Amino acid sequence: MAKTDFPKSFLFGTATASYQIEGAVHEDGRGESIWDRFSHTPGKTHQGETGDVACDSYHLFEEDIRLMKAMGCNAYRFSIAWPRIIPEGEGQINPKGLDYYARVADRLGEAGVTPFATMYHWDLPQGLEDKYGGWRSRKTVEAFARYAETIVRKLGGRIKNWMTLNEIPCTVYLGHKSGVHAPGAHESDKVLNQIRHHCLLAHGHGVAAVRQHGRRGSRVGLVHNPGCKVPAIETSENIEAARRAFTKDNGQMLEPLARGTYPAAWLKQAGAEAPQIECGDLELIRGRADFIGLNVYGGSFVEAADNADSFRPIEFPPNYPHAFAEWIKIVPQSVYWTVKFLHEDHGYDVIYVSENGCCMDDQLKEGEVLDTDRTQYMREYLAAAARAVAEGLPLRGYFAWTLMDNFEWATGTSNRFGLHYTDFGTQRRIPKLSAKYYAACIKSRQVL
Ligand code: FCB
Repeated sequence: MAKTDFPKSFLFGTATASYQIEGAVHEDGRGESIWDRFSHTPGKTHQGETGDVACDSYHLFEEDIRLMKAMGCNAYRFSIAWPRIIPEGEGQINPKGLDYYARVADRLGEAGVTPFATMYHWDLPQGLEDKYGGWRSRKTVEAFARYAETIVRKLGGRIKNWMTLNEIPCTVYLGHKSGVHAPGAHESDKVLNQIRHHCLLAHGHGVAAVRQHGRRGSRVGLVHNPGCKVPAIETSENIEAARRAFTKDNGQMLEPLARGTYPAAWLKQAGAEAPQIECGDLELIRGRADFIGLNVYGGSFVEAADNADSFRPIEFPPNYPHAFAEWIKIVPQSVYWTVKFLHEDHGYDVIYVSENGCCMDDQLKEGEVLDTDRTQYMREYLAAAARAVAEGLPLRGYFAWTLMDNFEWATGTSNRFGLHYTDFGTQRRIPKLSAKYYAACIKSRQVL
């Protein structure tokens, strides 16, 4: 196989999230989410923007599926809005919410696109935040378990691929430490560690729901955004240094998942701040998932060092290339090394890139967006994915973030990540050059 080839079975898709695209926040019995409350609080988002309308995908999803089909995609990752299914977070189920996702899955099936449904992509029902303090409480974990069971039972005939929670570290740190995401809190390390533990526990319940109620052939995994470590120069010393850095920096998530323990050194360091763990928790969290989804945007460089860790992180020089958002440094090899470390050291035999993409300063000129910057970004990251595939690493699919420009959380519509340009005034979606590029790669199953 040529270095740039992807096998027939490889999945090519795009990824989205409910609050970022759906709009229709008051329709068909949907309850309030923490993102509704947060985005409507003055000063929390770019120019006070909200997801009230977003891409109006609640109404325009059939058109969105046509866009996927036009690119030749054979998979789609979207998320189910918990407050559409159980408006208060617990209690009453809303059949109209279930119907909506059943229709989405049916249309995807007709288009030959395999649905991957994320159970939780940050739009927690506000009722759970008000009543229990959201993820600070085990009550929310219990509510999640019932929600997961509900959607798997009701939608499991149509959806076989499930992703439990999206990016737990963002819920922990952006939601509850810096407060730049909903619910906009500033908590102590003790509370943050407890929130992480609760989210991991919810993941365990999501897996259990699919095991118990999923139809034959159903599969389930977490979507994670580990800190990606890349050897600054690919010598064996630096590769081992990057491997150690990856394990050390990501241990508090990856070890409970793979081995059912928190890293001893981390627990010791946390001391009284360590999470409260109940009997059976770690068994629930551990190792029963079928795959892991890897969200990868940037990454960082590491080299071997003569110190206690035997590695040292290298800081980025001031003008290191990045996307329109500074946090997205251009480090394409992150894909390759992270897939390799997840497989070789953390027990994953099926891995998807569940998000990869960038925001750029897109210019709509005479009806076109010629985003050669995004196209080149994709080319480099896809090449790193192809390298993993060519070496026999178990990378099975790639989901570009994202189908179309949408409500990008606190940065609102100012950060455009789409392969399609969204005209938020008319809701027209215009394929960018990058959409054509992705389509061409998919068609030839090569990095072009
Ligand atoms: C990820 C999120 C996704 C989107 C991209 C840009 O962290 O999962 O919703 O915001 O970043």
